[in-house]
Amino acid sequence: MIPNNLFLSIQTSAAIVSLLGAILVVCIVLFIIGTSSVDEEKHQAKGKVYKLRVKYFYGLMAAIVLLLFFTMQTLPYFKHKTTRSDEVVTVVGAQWAWKMDHGTTEVKAKEFEGLNDITLPSNKVIQFNVMSADVNHNFAIYNDKGDIVAQTQAMPNYTNHLQYTFEERGEYHILCLEYCGMAHAYMTGSIHIE
Ligand code: CUA
Repeated sequence: MIPNNLFLSIQTSAAIVSLLGAILVVCIVLFIIGTSSVDEEKHQAKGKVYKLRVKYFYGLMAAIVLLLFFTMQTLPYFKHKTTRSDEVVTVVGAQWAWKMDHGTTEVKAKEFEGLNDITLPSNKVIQFNVMSADVNHNFAIYNDKGDIVAQTQAMPNYTNHLQYTFEERGEYHILCLEYCGMAHAYMTGSIHIE
């Protein structure tokens, strides 16, 4: 299990961003109220609001495009394009547990037996063959700092192949990232890298 405080910084940042957004909206409303006199024709006020809205729209678009440009470069997919793998791990998600085992043999998700923790080598390309025995889950791997390092959907009747090279030794945590029912939050596991 991951201690809750690992996520605190992310949650706090999200809260601060939301708060700043709310403050911005309040400022815009106050600006509109402040610059519209009571006697002013209604359509004039409307024009002002529309002009401001257009500016706000393009500003927001520019911000989103910039943010996407910079944040998408840090996605792990570009780093791990290789198709060669040193080790294969079968992963099956089921309400509400992860089962993992080494090996590539043909696997029937519903009959698969495995454990929710596994030990794997560092600096090797690990290929996770991820599937589900029931509903959609999401197999997400977090490092000890609580940063997500890799993830893929666990789907019924379909196998997703996720390749990842663990460069740092230590404990990694698995969480389910797709809401899958009552005990979704407790669908955890761990990967020990040595
Ligand atoms: Cu499995 Cu959420």
